[in-house]
Amino acid sequence: MQPLALKDWYETFNRNAGDLYPGRYTREYTSRLTDTARRVRELAQRKRSLIVAHNYQFPELQEIAVEVGDSLGLSRYVAKQTAPRVDFCGVWFMGETAKTIMGERAKVYMPDKPGCSLVDSIDRARLMHWKESFPDGVVISYVNTDAATKAISDYICTSRNAAQVLDHAAKANPGKRILFLPDKFLGSVSISQSEIVDPSLVDLYDGFCHVHAKIGETALEEAFDRYPEAELLIHPECGCASHCMARVMQGNSPYQKAFFLSTEGMVHHAARSGAREFIVGTEMGMVYRLRRRMPDKVFHPVSPEAVCEYMKMNTLEKLLDSLEQDRIEVTIEPETARKAQLAIDRMLSIQ
Ligand code: 13P
Ligand code: SF4
Repeated sequence: MQPLALKDWYETFNRNAGDLYPGRYTREYTSRLTDTARRVRELAQRKRSLIVAHNYQFPELQEIAVEVGDSLGLSRYVAKQTAPRVDFCGVWFMGETAKTIMGERAKVYMPDKPGCSLVDSIDRARLMHWKESFPDGVVISYVNTDAATKAISDYICTSRNAAQVLDHAAKANPGKRILFLPDKFLGSVSISQSEIVDPSLVDLYDGFCHVHAKIGETALEEAFDRYPEAELLIHPECGCASHCMARVMQGNSPYQKAFFLSTEGMVHHAARSGAREFIVGTEMGMVYRLRRRMPDKVFHPVSPEAVCEYMKMNTLEKLLDSLEQDRIEVTIEPETARKAQLAIDRMLSIQ
């Protein structure tokens, strides 16, 4: 996508995000944002920094970034870069993943230190207990885990490739128990999408994302009542995902036009689909990304509550501060990084 001229920010933000963040993009605030953006661009150029942003970031961060995407897309992107610095606008585990991949090649900074409820849901003692109980078991960790958990995992996956990684791990380790962690909704949807012959061999950890867990049947029904012609794009972390998928597979769902997709999968699907209208079942930031990419199509947020307060801790002002002060650098203990890298590499080689 062409970079958006700063003079167009006010109109574009209000057109594409006025309903997502009501009252945010006043003339005065947007004018301050564009002043900040100028300084961010200058400094990023001077420091040879690549600014990347996750799909859930505020519009101004998506516009200032050289690359916007999902966790897998951004990991792949930074893996190919040679810049000495990355400013990562996302949550902490994403910055850690970028740092793990880039190693000593680049410094990784973040505007803030946002957590993630999935990362927090992992109890290390429970994980170690499972590993001791099944010494030849296979651990598949969702990318939404900290570097220390990745380091004791066999594979990493993202929402885009979870079923593929499950298939690969099951074929490479026939008959062995698999632990999928931490998201139980993603795990269950991915088992349904995979070719795994014996799902009873897969243990699902019972973590969940507090933002997506709230996107349950009621949110879906209300959105569908409002926009009955729309296709439903559902992130597999959603609380409704496994139940809804089971009903779709049985052919008795009211939402036969439901698609279970990672954030980037939503972009690809909407671009190819003949449908004009979509309900976006994930965090609000995604709606802005989709509207900007496909101005001729209509995207509705599934619920006004689908906002990740962790993702929204990053702001353009904090990004400027990070470029000026080099305050929040992502560092990982070298042995942890080395082991985490092995699991990430295994994932990247499966594509
Ligand atoms: P993606 O892997 O689709 O980027 O999702 C990450 C995430 O945090 C979802 O809540
Ligand atoms: Fe974590 Fe959920 Fe926020 Fe994604 S939306 S970063 S899974 S808390």
